[in-house]
Amino acid sequence: MKVIATYNIKGGVGKTATAVNIACLAASEGYRVLLWDLDPQAAATFLFRVRPKVKGGGKALIAGKRPVDDAIKATDFDNLDLLPADFTYRHLDLHLDSERKSGTRLRNLITPLRRQYDLIVLDCPPSISLLSENVLQAADLLLVPLIPTTLSVRTLDQLTGFIAGFDGRRPQILAFFSMLDRRKRLHTETVEQLPAERKDLAAAWIPALSVIERMSVQRAPVTATAPRSQAARHYRELWAETRKRANLPPPAAVG
Ligand SMILES: Nc1ncnc2c1ncn2[C@@H]1O[C@H](COP(=O)(O)OP(=O)(O)OP(=O)(O)O)[C@@H](O)[C@H]1O
Ligand SMILES: [Mg+2]
Repeated sequence: MKVIATYNIKGGVGKTATAVNIACLAASEGYRVLLWDLDPQAAATFLFRVRPKVKGGGKALIAGKRPVDDAIKATDFDNLDLLPADFTYRHLDLHLDSERKSGTRLRNLITPLRRQYDLIVLDCPPSISLLSENVLQAADLLLVPLIPTTLSVRTLDQLTGFIAGFDGRRPQILAFFSMLDRRKRLHTETVEQLPAERKDLAAAWIPALSVIERMSVQRAPVTATAPRSQAARHYRELWAETRKRANLPPPAAVG
């Protein structure tokens, strides 16, 4: 079982769009997938048409008063379950902080799920906090969307530096360009200036496309509603690269 988190300190860069599409693609290939929406905005929960309600709230879940299993919901897609977020998740940091092993709490909560799932995707809120530390400890791979500007590359360098100094388990990083708009000079310049051999940068990238933006109207991942679209093709390429980087064996071989 592997844990992949879509993560960036910055907001609105495509974390949720990526998490839902990757989870959906993996499930369609036969992996047993759980998407854990960790963001109180509950955008991933909304996209899968699940009610943003966690009985007892984030507090009971983190404290272990309610088994994580109980909070899991099925989605409209085979092999794909969702652990929804609700607004109580805005206090997750506080609840984590009151635990004894506060930095590895998320990892410990995930442990019993290892038998049930081949892949857990964590959709993270935009922040750097105790929750982020928990995500770093729990994830095998961080998938980091970058909008191609100089500042976004700086964000990646900061994140890499932060993880290098991180005392604990260190996840791999796979960054990729998100919402790339070839009509924008800054975007093309940034892409061209970055050394192609950089190992933490994926060859796959996601273009800025209105069909991706419209997922919130359709309330379903674009890879499911328009599998032949350009958007779906790019997400498939990103998923293939992610799967390889995370060393996730083919669906028949896992379990
Ligand atoms: N490749 C894309 N092309 C066009 N629009 C996109 C693309 N990716 C995401 N969007 C849109 O941009 C907005 C932000 O995307 P998304 O919610 O995935 O980002 P996020 O990083 O999860 O944001 P937050 O930090 O708020 O959680 C959404 O309205 C989404 O539909
Ligand atoms: Mg999001």
